[in-house]
Amino acid sequence: MAADAERWRAPSSAGASSPDAPQAAPWLATSHNRQAPETNSPRALRRITGNSILDGKDRTVSPESYSSFQNEIYLQGLLTEQVPELTTDLQALEDTARQALSPSAYGYVAGGAGGGATVRANREALDRRRVVPRMLRDVGTRDLSRTVLGTRMPAPVALAPVGVLSIVHPDGELAVARAAAKAGLPMVLSTASSYTLEEVAEASGEGSSRWFQLYWPKDREVTVSMLQRAEAAGYHTLVITLDTWLLGWRPTDLDRAYLPFLQRTGIANYLSDPAFLAGLDKPVEEDPLAAVAHWADMFADPTKTWQDLAFIREHWSGPIVLKGVLHADDARRARDEGMDGIVVSNHGGRQVDGAVAALDALPEVVDAVGGELAVLFDSGVRTGADVVKALALGADSVLIGRTYAYGLASGGEEGVTHVLRCLLAELDLTVALSGHRSPDELGPDLLAG
Ligand SMILES: Cc1cc2nc3c(=O)[nH]c(=O)nc-3n(C[C@H](O)[C@H](O)[C@H](O)COP(=O)(O)O)c2cc1C
Repeated sequence: MAADAERWRAPSSAGASSPDAPQAAPWLATSHNRQAPETNSPRALRRITGNSILDGKDRTVSPESYSSFQNEIYLQGLLTEQVPELTTDLQALEDTARQALSPSAYGYVAGGAGGGATVRANREALDRRRVVPRMLRDVGTRDLSRTVLGTRMPAPVALAPVGVLSIVHPDGELAVARAAAKAGLPMVLSTASSYTLEEVAEASGEGSSRWFQLYWPKDREVTVSMLQRAEAAGYHTLVITLDTWLLGWRPTDLDRAYLPFLQRTGIANYLSDPAFLAGLDKPVEEDPLAAVAHWADMFADPTKTWQDLAFIREHWSGPIVLKGVLHADDARRARDEGMDGIVVSNHGGRQVDGAVAALDALPEVVDAVGGELAVLFDSGVRTGADVVKALALGADSVLIGRTYAYGLASGGEEGVTHVLRCLLAELDLTVALSGHRSPDELGPDLLAG
C-alpha cells in the first residue's frame, strides 16, 4: 500500500465512503431471481446462501460473502430451474457482447493496435502465471477491503475509464456509474464519456466514489474549466492518461473508417464546457463540423513533458494518478514530480502494438516505487483470478475495462452488476482457496511461472 494512502480523504461533500464506513454493497436483484420461490424453510435457504436472497427484495451482499453468489445461483437452479441469464464465465461474455453490438461498436471496444500483439500479450502474461494454493490456514473469515489514495474500497477493484459507452448501450456511463456505486467500487469516468461528468455524478448518487480521468486538452482554459467542473461535481481523484497523446494505429476501426467522436459521440464533456464553447464561432447546432474540428485540435497535446504536471497540480486539490506507466524510470519520475499514484497499463493494447504486457512491467515498477506511490494495474484483466495475480505482484488495486463494457453490452446496468458480482465472487474464492484472508497477504510467492 502507498505510504501516503491515509493522507487523502475523499471530501465528504462528494459523499465518498469514509475509511470506517460500512462495507455493505447493495445489489440489484437480476430479473430472473426476483420471484420468491415457494419454500417452507427460509432459514435453511439463508444458511445455504448466507443472505436472504430469495425474498424478492433488493438485497445487500456484504463483501465478506461475495462468494455466496455461487450458492445463490445453485439454489436458484434447484428451486426454480432457472440458470443465470448471462454466462458466469467472464471471458466468454465477449461473445455475448459481440452478438449484441454492431460490428463497428464491437470492433471499437475489442480491437487493439496493429496486429493485436499487445492485446494477446496482456492475456498471455496473466495466463502464464499460475497460482500455487496453500492449505489448512483458516480462511473462514476474509476481508478484501483496501484503502487506496484515501478511497476505501470493499475490494481492490475499480472500473477503468472507458469512453464512448453509448455505442455499447444507450445508458452508457450512467448505467456503469449506478452499478459501480451499488457495489461500492470507484468508477473512473473518462473525459471521453457520452454523458457529461455532471450527469454521471448525479447517476452515481450519494456515497459513490468518483474519480475523473483527464485527456489533457491542449487548451489551458478548457483544461482548467474541466478540472473545476469535475471537482464541483464531487470527483476527488484525478487520473491523467499519458499514453494517448495520439490515437494508436487501429486497423479494426480504420478499415471501417469508424471514429465515434467525429459523429459527436463521446465528446459530451467538451460540448458542455463553457471554455470549449467560447472557442467556437457559431453554436454547435449551426456548425457541428466546426465543433468536431475544434475538439480534434485540442483533444491532446503530444508536446507535453513532465514539467507540465505542475500546472495540473496547481488546479487540482486531490490525489493525482498517472495512467499508462510501463517503465520503472517513469514511475520514479512520477514520484519525483509529486504525483500520488500510477496505473501500470498499456491501454489494453490499444496504443502501441508490440508494447510490453502490462503484467510483465508490473514487478519492476513495484520494486521502484511500491510503498511510495499507489500502484494500480490494468490491461487484460477478465476474472477474479487475474485480479489475484496482479495483487500478488504488488498492485494496490486493479482496474477492469473491457470486462465491464461487455457486461454493459449484454445487459445494461444489470449486465455490469452481473460482471462485478462474478468477478468479486471469484476473487473472494481465489483468495480463500489459495489459503489467504486478505489482499495484504498476497505476494509474489503465491505465483509460479
Ligand atoms: C473501448 C475503450 C475505450 C477506452 N477509453 C479510455 C478512455 O477514455 N480513457 C482512458 O484513459 N482509457 C481508456 N481505455 C483504456 C482503459 O482505461 C483500460 O486501460 C483498458 O481497457 C484495459 O484493458 P482491458 O480492457 O483489456 O482490461 C479504453 C479502453 C477501451 C476498451
